[in-house]
Amino acid sequence: MGPRYTGTSNQGGGGFMIGEMKVFSGTSHQGLAGGIAAHIGMPLGKVKFTRFSNENIKVKIDENVREADVFVIQSSCPPVSDNLLELLILIDALKFASAARITAVLPYFPYARSDKKDEARISITARLVADLLQTAGADRVLTMTLHAPQILGFFRIPADQIFATPIQAQHFRRTDISNSVVVATDAGAAKFAGHFAKRLGLPLALIDKRRSDDSEKAQSVALIGEVKGMDAIIYDDEIATGGSISEASRMLRQFGARKVSVGVTHPVFSGPAVERLNEADLDELVVTDTIPIPEAKASVIKNLKILSTAAMFGDAILRIHGGRSISEMMD
Ligand code: R5P
Repeated sequence: MGPRYTGTSNQGGGGFMIGEMKVFSGTSHQGLAGGIAAHIGMPLGKVKFTRFSNENIKVKIDENVREADVFVIQSSCPPVSDNLLELLILIDALKFASAARITAVLPYFPYARSDKKDEARISITARLVADLLQTAGADRVLTMTLHAPQILGFFRIPADQIFATPIQAQHFRRTDISNSVVVATDAGAAKFAGHFAKRLGLPLALIDKRRSDDSEKAQSVALIGEVKGMDAIIYDDEIATGGSISEASRMLRQFGARKVSVGVTHPVFSGPAVERLNEADLDELVVTDTIPIPEAKASVIKNLKILSTAAMFGDAILRIHGGRSISEMMD
């Protein structure tokens, strides 16, 4: 039997007792899930996934989970909708196998960009995902760097958000940042990038980015702040098609930036991202492992550095299990 982890009442922040901890993973990102389990010091729970010829998914939990405090790791990556459904089925199976509490751990939240009604008669799918997780049986949610913090408000169960900012700040601190400026790719990212700039003690510049439609084409129209002769660090939540980063780097070089590096949490790398990122000729592209990057992409993207979030998720899981503060660990 693996080690037993139980919360105690004397760990600071008001701990409590709950059943044995178990960590399960869907099939989307077993590399990260394995790293999280290794950091915690326990094996991943035994589960079997079967995909039938009619594309139906069957999940069988292959060990006892009665009264256990269960964490289920599943990120959002292609095939996005299949992985989401697999997670829902896994949660449902755990619930009906009598787990005491189920926490859905979503390193990259599915449909995170569908979070607002900014056009008539459109879907707000991130809210639907929140509803689905709760209906399936999730009691809590743990996720990283949401596209917009208000997504937490879509839940009627406790939802915790952690950030890769400390890991990325540590990385950039190892380089010479004495002449650097942090750059937000748009007004939406300004607060998020501002926290990063503050952590590093750097000034902040802001790009005015516009999108006219759903074509995923971004256009940078103005730059607010000083970048001339400086080393720019563009900071954003994700790279999807790479449009925002290529536009931002073009504008920063036009305004005289000496170097252009990038720090983002989620490497979605969809559509023309690889070509755009290589054309942008970045001095460094620092991402995390919340999403698995296929080797065919990782091996050709220039100056790519992937930071592990496993320890951070592992610590957050241990804190949730022990009833300890999550915000404390962000400091
Ligand atoms: C935008 O609102 C986000 O913060 C990212 O800038 C965006 O998701 C990146 O998308 P893309 O790489 O396609 O420009």
